[in-house]
Amino acid sequence: MKYTLNVNGQSRTVDVAPDTPVLWVLRDNLELVGTKFGCGIGQCGACTIHLNGVPARACMTPVSTVGRMKITTIEGLAADAKKLHPVQQAWCELDVAQCGYCQSGQIMTAAALLKDNPKPTDDDIDGAMAGNLCRCATYTRIRTGIKRASELAAGGKEAAQ
Ligand code: FES
Ligand code: FES
Repeated sequence: MKYTLNVNGQSRTVDVAPDTPVLWVLRDNLELVGTKFGCGIGQCGACTIHLNGVPARACMTPVSTVGRMKITTIEGLAADAKKLHPVQQAWCELDVAQCGYCQSGQIMTAAALLKDNPKPTDDDIDGAMAGNLCRCATYTRIRTGIKRASELAAGGKEAAQ
């Protein structure tokens, strides 16, 4: 069945079964492989995307349920293709990633948190990020990265070059 999706601001048409998870559509049909497959059962957060700006688990979202909702992936997170999103900028500056596998999901969840709550407390961060698992245990750097992204988004101290 054909579905025309709004992915990172572009109209993309795919021909897949209605119950195909959006994660498969992104990775296998649209070659947007920044979104990762971890558990496949909604438990790890590696596949986190935004649907109309809200974090969603792409592994648990059948393509038939998306309609014209705006899908944003890590590839489309930055508003300007030539500039990183503040969360990405902070992640690079602080070397947040270790193996990196979970990190696009972490970044998507962190970006949604900061959109709703530009200056989150440690408890806010821990609450928002609780569903994103990291086998390399980068949680402390993630928390620091979110605080740095908050500063960058507010136009604070310049990022290190
Ligand atoms: S792969 Fe989707 S939550 Fe783990
Ligand atoms: S950086 Fe390796 S799983 Fe998170």
